[in-house]
Amino acid sequence: MTSDGSTAPLAIELRGIVKRFPGVVANDGVDFDLRPGEVHALLGENGAGKSTLMNIVAGLYRPDEGEMRVDGRPVRFRSPRDAIAAGLGMIHQHFALVPSQTVTENVLLGLDRPRFLLGLAKHDEEMAALAAGLGLKVDPRAKVWQLSVGEQQRVEVLKMLYRGAHVLIMDEPTAVLAPQEVDELFRTLRAMTASGRSIVFISHKLAEVLAIADRITVMRRGRVTASGIAAAGTSKGDLARLMVGREVLGSVERTMFRPGAVVLSMRDVHAENDKGLPALRGVSLDVRAGEILGIAGVAGNGQSELAQVVTGLRPFLGRIEIAGDVAERRSARDAIRRGVAHVPEDRTGVGSAPNLSITDNLIMKAYREAPIAHGWVIDVSAARRMAESLKDEYSIAAPSIDTLARLLSGGNLQRLILAREIESKPSLLVAVQPTRGLDVGAIEAVHRLLMARREAGAATILISEDLDEILGLSDRVAVIYEGLILGTFDVAEADVQELGLLMTGGTGGLPLEVAPILPGVPGA
Ligand SMILES: Nc1ncnc2c1ncn2[C@@H]1O[C@H](COP(=O)(O)OP(=O)(O)O)[C@@H](O)[C@H]1O
Ligand SMILES: [Mg+2]
Repeated sequence: MTSDGSTAPLAIELRGIVKRFPGVVANDGVDFDLRPGEVHALLGENGAGKSTLMNIVAGLYRPDEGEMRVDGRPVRFRSPRDAIAAGLGMIHQHFALVPSQTVTENVLLGLDRPRFLLGLAKHDEEMAALAAGLGLKVDPRAKVWQLSVGEQQRVEVLKMLYRGAHVLIMDEPTAVLAPQEVDELFRTLRAMTASGRSIVFISHKLAEVLAIADRITVMRRGRVTASGIAAAGTSKGDLARLMVGREVLGSVERTMFRPGAVVLSMRDVHAENDKGLPALRGVSLDVRAGEILGIAGVAGNGQSELAQVVTGLRPFLGRIEIAGDVAERRSARDAIRRGVAHVPEDRTGVGSAPNLSITDNLIMKAYREAPIAHGWVIDVSAARRMAESLKDEYSIAAPSIDTLARLLSGGNLQRLILAREIESKPSLLVAVQPTRGLDVGAIEAVHRLLMARREAGAATILISEDLDEILGLSDRVAVIYEGLILGTFDVAEADVQELGLLMTGGTGGLPLEVAPILPGVPGA
């Protein structure tokens, strides 16, 4: 409380925040300032460290280093409860509501004070008044299971406001909303800032950040690349560059591109994701021998499904030809027979057998053939010789070839997978996030291996959320957004800003039906 009795608006200062997870520094010395009454957007690509930083502010994670002050006072939260008590509330990407209970019951849930002190009807009125004050359309008596996702989000907002949040952190709130709901949300956010609250708005979408934010902080690979810049006067192009970076990795040698015959041809390929929703919506592309085709995109736009249909792991409609032959639908055996190798996103589930030895993991693809197989029998000493030489050649650091795969570090496990896949001499290599979570040395090793395979004439699809990696390795780059290829460019001519815009569904000057259209937002 301030001296005049009104509730003090909160300012937050973060200094030098470091948060490490195994194999990755999610926040690497981050400073961040939130002023009272502002909408501050936290912008960055997937994996940039946005959620981690705000989970720290919201008391869910504790930082390894750095400090946080609220209104000038140092704070250390041990739980979200502490954060809420200090006036900071976060709404996560996945909601935590009880479907069988009403809106009011959900808002009251978990509060210390007796829940039905006033009687439920009185509480319903209280909720309705709170909601109306901010233009939040939601019926206090409705059961949560009856509500749309957008309405459920409003319940989460209500919950935080009822608990007295002065700072509301929203993690990618528009991801689940239809355009008209985005418009409504923005109106609510404006109403909240007008009443002295402040908002941290996490997003990777440039257009909406520019539409709602007063100031913008951009993160990239755990670091801040722009700190609290004014949204006014900032362009999408500026933001795209800050978000995806301009510098291209210079570490790999590359020869001139000598494309050969088409190895992979996809025509009008459709596929669903695990939830049965459309994930690929008519993908057509060609990859030629000796070429790396990079697929750039923000996670969750169909990249995983693209890799899975090509490697025979997922059913599809449309036509896929590998070296001129029609590929069987959903047959990993058929794909392997046609010379398709897969460096999967999931290294421990799909990519390797954690409880088998290095040797067993290395021979997984070769055990049916000489010299490993003699008729029905596996030649154990041939297998061991092969494993020893691959362990050397690919610098897999482990005590011995009998070490279990699950004991390898991320970088060494990835080298093992690459060794096995590359030694199968594939004509088509599908590499998905091949360097995610690896340290710099391991990243370089993986890049060299991919380039060597290209030199040997393989066609490669490189799927990565790291645009630098794509630009550093690929001959051509295709941008995928919501299951569609929005454009394909020669890397030499690719413009980072245009790629960045396409990756976030921006139009980049192209008339696209999938481009989000943001309605005008009334000022506060
Ligand atoms: N609980 C966790 N355990 C291990 N790694 C994590 C965890 N949360 C995030 N990470 C890693 O930290 C990095 C930053 O993630 P995150 O903060 O979720 O990014 P963003 O929200 O910007 O997409 C990523 O590399 C991610 O894989
Ligand atoms: Mg996140």
